[in-house]
Amino acid sequence: MEVLEAIRTRRSIRKYKSDPVDDKTLETVLEAARQAPSWANTQCWHFVVVRNAETKGKLSDTLNDTNPARDAVRNAPLVIVACAEKGKSGHKDGEPVTDKGDWFMFDVALAMQNLVLAARSLGLGTVYIGRFEAREVDRILSVPDGYCAVAMTPLGYPDETKEPRPRKELGEIVHYDKWNDK
Ligand SMILES: Cc1cc2nc3c(=O)[nH]c(=O)nc-3n(C[C@H](O)[C@H](O)[C@H](O)COP(=O)(O)O)c2cc1C
Repeated sequence: MEVLEAIRTRRSIRKYKSDPVDDKTLETVLEAARQAPSWANTQCWHFVVVRNAETKGKLSDTLNDTNPARDAVRNAPLVIVACAEKGKSGHKDGEPVTDKGDWFMFDVALAMQNLVLAARSLGLGTVYIGRFEAREVDRILSVPDGYCAVAMTPLGYPDETKEPRPRKELGEIVHYDKWNDK
């Protein structure tokens, strides 16, 4: 699938078939994440692949009852938790070099976007999940000090088709030469 087609047709998928994801397919999406750019090539990301049903259940419980992705974390064949090493991205000699502090959220997002688009191109579904008890996830997965869980996604074959969600028009978000009110 062409990259533009994958971008255009990706949807957040929250219902998954029980069909497993084979190791080669999993490696292809992880490889896409690995190829992402990052601050000074620091590659602060790590990915924890969870297939164990009990652990998926525990991860699911870190999402609150109202999070629409809660059941997907429990039921998808696997879950990928993206973690970051802190104090690397956006840093030089241990100090942040911009007013924005640690850029790990940015770099992990780039890797995750590669991952979800690769997944889409292989017919797999994903949904970014950012709202969960991250400290609890760190504990469940034994994430070491200096690292933190940032985001997760279930990975599996979609068991639903989704209509596109609305997006702002380009005219609302693009400015030429300077920021101008339309
Ligand atoms: C950083 C981030 C965090 C998100 N967190 C959640 C979440 O906790 N639960 C959930 O169901 N969806 C979550 N989403 C999915 C968004 O709701 C979804 O991407 C958005 O509504 C657009 O829909 P689409 O992905 O189908 O285009 C998150 C998306 C992003 C980018």
